[in-house]
Amino acid sequence: MQKKLLFDCHIFLVSILFLVWPHYASVVNLVRQPPRPIVFTPHNRPESHPQQVHVSLVGKNYMKVSWVTDESRVPSTVDYGTTPGKYDSSGTGEHTSYRYFFYTSGKIHHVTIGPLLPATTYYYRCGGSGPEFNFRTPPANFPIEFAVAGDLGQTGWTATTLNHMNATNYDVLLLPGDLSYADTQQPLWDSFGRLVEPYASRRPWMVTQGNHEQETFPIIYPNGFKAYNTRWPMPYELSGSKSNLYYSFDVVGTHIIMLGSYADFSDQYKWLANDVARIDRSQTPWVVVIIHAPWYNSNLAHQGEGESMRVAMEEMLYNSRVDIVFAGHVHAYERFTRIYDNNADPCGPIHITIGDGGNREGLAMLYKEPKPSLSIFRESSFGHGRLRILNNTHAHWSWHRNNDTTAVVADEIWFQSLSSSPSCIPKIEPNVQLTQVNDEL
Ligand SMILES: *[C@@H]1O[C@H](CO)[C@@H](O)[C@H](O)[C@H]1NC(C)=O
Ligand SMILES: *[C@@H]1O[C@H](CO)[C@@H](O)[C@H](O)[C@H]1NC(C)=O
Ligand SMILES: *[C@@H]1O[C@H](CO)[C@@H](O)[C@H](O)[C@H]1NC(C)=O
Ligand SMILES: [Fe+2]
Repeated sequence: MQKKLLFDCHIFLVSILFLVWPHYASVVNLVRQPPRPIVFTPHNRPESHPQQVHVSLVGKNYMKVSWVTDESRVPSTVDYGTTPGKYDSSGTGEHTSYRYFFYTSGKIHHVTIGPLLPATTYYYRCGGSGPEFNFRTPPANFPIEFAVAGDLGQTGWTATTLNHMNATNYDVLLLPGDLSYADTQQPLWDSFGRLVEPYASRRPWMVTQGNHEQETFPIIYPNGFKAYNTRWPMPYELSGSKSNLYYSFDVVGTHIIMLGSYADFSDQYKWLANDVARIDRSQTPWVVVIIHAPWYNSNLAHQGEGESMRVAMEEMLYNSRVDIVFAGHVHAYERFTRIYDNNADPCGPIHITIGDGGNREGLAMLYKEPKPSLSIFRESSFGHGRLRILNNTHAHWSWHRNNDTTAVVADEIWFQSLSSSPSCIPKIEPNVQLTQVNDEL
């Protein structure tokens, strides 16, 4: 009797499993990655030595070097040169720090160095002591390769994603928001900085904010983004923006617009109108936009969260013939066809969700069924993307899921710039008041 009951129970559980399983396994023969634990990267250098070193592009020929020291007497200087151990140039910058409740950050240094030569490896030392680092500047001409991964966090999967991206020898990393997942636990910003340092000190990392950067607290920190803005300042002033939460920059024939899914839309819209009106297609035939909450998404996670921003800004991006829009937020990968206003449109951008960097919240597994026709490929696995722009007209996009030791190509597409399509002439907004912006330092 007892045995029979157990047997029935077993049958019942197995049936439940088979009922539920198809939702979790829409891709055949794929072993999905379960979550991996958080990697805490300890601090094991002397107090005066740099930690959390990362670099970002500033204008055409300059790089900002950012790092943290525990010791407050360390100068904000960077010595650099093109030969290891031989620093024939140096730059001096600024330093800051911040408090968040009972936490006080180390001394945060930001030093802009240059002018630098393109496609050149520079060796550098921060604050006059500690290890030597090196970075490579982007090339002067096509081809250029971008690595793209959002919602990184700091788990074992994050480490795998970083490792796979590093193996590609990319030029610039584009991060569509959600960096450390510190979520107000400030020491996690420091451990994130240490986890990414081996990669972010070697190539420029250009980021925009996600919801996990907000860290607002009623009355005390109503505006949020304190840690993010202090630790990851981007070159927003150069594009005429008044906020670190949205900006644009040019690199090798590509105009990249970093929008702020969590920044005020009305000021941002005015800035965006100016920015797209200044795009010179003869200089930058490609236009890439990065947001956090996707405007198109057939995953059940975060449905509708990007909608108000889409309504506010999609027409502007469409008229300026943006080639591709990357989003994060949904912890999965999805590629859409060219879209404008919920319809396939040959002059609209391709939309890609790439919020699969590897954070502790795990994957977003459930999708709207059946798959909407606008969605071309979707899968909830951790991974990263590579955008290789070969010349004025052709680019290749590939998505690489994390699969143990190798980064397998799971989705890929060749596509052409809209600037090379005679039927997609940009329609620049009329009445835009252009403000003068300095592109150089
Ligand atoms: C994952 O990698 C293993 C080898 O490490 C390979 O046999 C398997 O086919 C890969 N799976 C997918 C879905 O790519
Ligand atoms: C990144 O790649 C470079 C070049 O292959 C290698 O020298 C370096 O050790 C890698 N970094 C990490 C942390 O794996
Ligand atoms: C651009 O690159 C594509 C892909 O490699 C190639 O087929 C095409 O001929 C190139 N165009 C020019 C103008 O070089
Ligand atoms: Fe997010």
